[in-house]
Amino acid sequence: PVDNEELRAEIKSLLKQKDAVLVAHYYTEDAIQELAEETGGVIADSLEMARFGANHDATTLVVAGVKFMGETSKILSPEKNVIMPTLEATCSLDIGCPIEEFSAFCDQYPDRKVVVYANTSAAVKARADWVVTSSIALDVVEHLVDQGEKIIWAPDQHLGGYIQRETGADMILWDGACIVHEEFKAKGILDLKMVYPDAAVLVHPESPEPVVALADVVGSTSQLLSASKKMSNSTFIVATDRGIFYKMKQASPEKRFIAAPTAGTGASCRSCAHCPWMALNSLEMLRDSLRDNTGQIHIPEETRVKALVPLQRMLDFKI
Ligand code: 13P
Ligand code: SF4
Repeated sequence: PVDNEELRAEIKSLLKQKDAVLVAHYYTEDAIQELAEETGGVIADSLEMARFGANHDATTLVVAGVKFMGETSKILSPEKNVIMPTLEATCSLDIGCPIEEFSAFCDQYPDRKVVVYANTSAAVKARADWVVTSSIALDVVEHLVDQGEKIIWAPDQHLGGYIQRETGADMILWDGACIVHEEFKAKGILDLKMVYPDAAVLVHPESPEPVVALADVVGSTSQLLSASKKMSNSTFIVATDRGIFYKMKQASPEKRFIAAPTAGTGASCRSCAHCPWMALNSLEMLRDSLRDNTGQIHIPEETRVKALVPLQRMLDFKI
């Protein structure tokens, strides 16, 4: 096997040679995040990934994350070559919201605005009035409530439920969930709080309601990271993918970060605080996709143009 140093050097040189920039999500492995940092790329939440890719001059975007993130970049930058280490990296929310069923669902409620989470296919985005990520969802829905709109929300029922509770919006929810976040358990967090009574609880809103109810801060990955820097607590219980610990520990090496407990443990748990699809991204695959220009994202132009409208609406939305 090629050692990591060699691989890292090869990737760095390929990035230059191919005029490429690395756009990585917080849930990818530490080595990928490190490379993004060292090469002028970005480590970000899904909204910032979209913005960064769209605004960057590079002709190739290497998106390390899951497929909807690559697709979002391609929708925004059709002129760029958008590649991913693996196209197998998907998301349970995307899988659980097929376009035919979703479109039929929307057709039942023609008087409602269709708001979809970014964790969806390009075709589902093309059927929507708004695309949102977890960092902007509350503000967009509040805006729609002010406009007197009723909403169809898809696909994440937990995020949707959280927004509904916070805004009082009239929302019909699609029945989808994130297989990672839905495993976090309130009981396990309460048990941990007995050991660390001063710990702050940071929760991604894809988690179930009883877990969100225990949170000191609810937010997107970058909002949770920023809370971990600002808050003076010495211990944090974190209900999101443990990939985020790379940046949390780097920013606050003196603080303790503990993954919120899940139902399963050890080998019996496929997705204990770590997304199995994010985990598919490896340094080798990153190198291969850059070297061979594989893992290219292609979206039919008709779908892309339609999906761009709600996506651009999100990017133009001023909080
Ligand atoms: P963020 O937008 O918070 O990064 O969330 C993306 C995601 O897939 C969380 O599971
Ligand atoms: Fe999808 Fe959950 Fe993985 Fe995020 S963590 S990409 S929501 S399956």
